[in-house]
Amino acid sequence: MESNIRVKLIEKSKIDTVDFNNLTFGGIFSDHMFVCDYIDGEWKNASIEPYAPISLNPSAKIFHYGQSIFEGMKAYKDADNKTLLFRPLDNHKRLNKSAERLVIPQIPEDIFMDGLKKLLEIDNKWIPTNEGSSLYIRPFIFASGEGFHASPANAYKLIICTAPSGAYFSGDVKVLIEEKYARAANGGVGFAKAGGNYAAQFYPTKLATDKGYQQVIWTDDNTHQYIEEAGAMNIFIRINDTLITSPTSDRILDGITRKSILQIAEDKNIPVEVRKITVSEVVEAAENGSLKEMFGAGTAAVISPISGFGFDNKEYDLPKITDGYATNLKKYITDIQTNKSEDPYGWRVQL
Ligand code: PLP
Ligand code: COI
Repeated sequence: MESNIRVKLIEKSKIDTVDFNNLTFGGIFSDHMFVCDYIDGEWKNASIEPYAPISLNPSAKIFHYGQSIFEGMKAYKDADNKTLLFRPLDNHKRLNKSAERLVIPQIPEDIFMDGLKKLLEIDNKWIPTNEGSSLYIRPFIFASGEGFHASPANAYKLIICTAPSGAYFSGDVKVLIEEKYARAANGGVGFAKAGGNYAAQFYPTKLATDKGYQQVIWTDDNTHQYIEEAGAMNIFIRINDTLITSPTSDRILDGITRKSILQIAEDKNIPVEVRKITVSEVVEAAENGSLKEMFGAGTAAVISPISGFGFDNKEYDLPKITDGYATNLKKYITDIQTNKSEDPYGWRVQL
């Protein structure tokens, strides 16, 4: 497939305009993007093009019915300037899992991986080298086919574009445990990375950010008694020395960072429980001092310690632990990602 990728390079790179020492998250885009079309029942016209506006008909189904999915990945540089990815085939598999649920055609692994590799080869200089920064990769597929009939489109576009990025959160992360709204329901699309899942979060998240929180912690839609996940990350809770996270379900994204943490924690003999956890258990632990840490885990967020949470109009602060599970697990996982340590799991992929 790689040889079939048509390449059209940008006339003048924008890279000199970028301050790589002051990167925010996902706001600056690299020179090129990979594009592939699904037309007449097959994926074709794979190309690398300058990052630029695309043309779509107003009746494209993405605009009306939100048939769209995405992934989030990162590329890193090691000390020898080698380009590294972290578990990229897991992202490919999850993209296809999301695709199945949204009736979007499956994307073959070779098209996805060859396009990604070619893009990273061409925009290699855009991969930041400074500590804590990386090239955020955003593959997405959407319905480009036309029609007002509320049914799946007959044409789709896969685009992969990238953004040199720093930390997802700036400063402390305070979260609000949701008591009214829901992100996902049984039988719904919560487990998929469907664009609409995020759009639906914006309103309750706005209510939370207006009150000074960075994210909502979603609870189950039925009872709002169980902690599920956050807007852009899975959630881990440490009570005494036990690390607890909710099991994945129809409603929760099966995070790649989450499953990596579970594996590492098990190997480091950290007591781990994957089980349902109630809000009242967390509140009680905060009150009696056994709640030691809470953190979010995701590709964009990496491991983001939570400094406090709000629930039932009360504020709960977490202890300021600088050498806790979050710090140590973050170091362990980022050292694997950036080739600062051995990778006993075979997660790191060098391009
Ligand atoms: N949960 C949600 C809703 C997310 O958007 C993400 C981000 O991708 C995650 C969890 C974490 O998943 P991963 O670790 O695969 O990035
Ligand atoms: C990621 O962590 O890659 C995500 O997709 C989260 C996103 C909402 C920024």
